[in-house]
Amino acid sequence: MSYSFRSARILAQPVAEADTLDIEAVYTGNRALLLLLDRENDPLVLARRFVEGRNMPPRGCPSCLHNLVLREAGSGDVMGLFGLYRGYPKADILYVGELFLCREFQGVGLGREAYLSLEAMLRPGPMSRVRVGVGLRNWNAMRFWIRLGFSQVTGMSGDRSFGPGRHAFLELQKNL
Ligand SMILES: CC(C)(COP(=O)(O)OP(=O)(O)OC[C@H]1O[C@@H](n2cnc3c(N)ncnc32)[C@H](O)[C@@H]1OP(=O)(O)O)[C@@H](O)C(=O)NCCC(=O)NCCS
Repeated sequence: MSYSFRSARILAQPVAEADTLDIEAVYTGNRALLLLLDRENDPLVLARRFVEGRNMPPRGCPSCLHNLVLREAGSGDVMGLFGLYRGYPKADILYVGELFLCREFQGVGLGREAYLSLEAMLRPGPMSRVRVGVGLRNWNAMRFWIRLGFSQVTGMSGDRSFGPGRHAFLELQKNL
């Protein structure tokens, strides 16, 4: 299963080396947010990591990683990226590592459409839960995931002390 899909407005395909500059542009458009989210916030570094499949959990297996590029169904223009990992931290959990849309495509229901397309594909199947890590200062994303039914808090991670350049994440989960 590649998790590729086509919905009303989105064509989601496995990312390829040729997409590197487009993926970098997605990150660049979200630069202000990236600074709040993690120590690594260089768009090109993040784009290479995504395209080369190095955004894996510790001891992850490459065949479980599914990095998708989200294209406008009509024009094929890149609208965003969707990073998925099958079986982390448990075999029946699909982990959403990243969902980023270009700024101009945010707020018009595309994130919701992408996630719900994924969910439809997962049912019925071996995955029974979806989990996502959200930066604690990313309140828009927090609202986005909660509205989609991610109501279980399964963990917190990140820095123990406060300060500029410190980061923490909340892990949210939804049963399928
Ligand atoms: C977070 C993100 C994926 C959401 O996708 P989206 O297409 O913009 O969101 P949608 O238009 O589908 O909105 C769905 C719900 O999310 C919430 N939401 C999305 N953007 C919001 C915003 N800017 N402010 C407040 N709520 C927002 C709303 O609750 C909305 O529900 P509503 O219809 O009741 O208003 C997208 O905005 C994005 O790429 N943001 C930057 C990167 C990011 O934060 N990624 C998430 C990392 S975990």
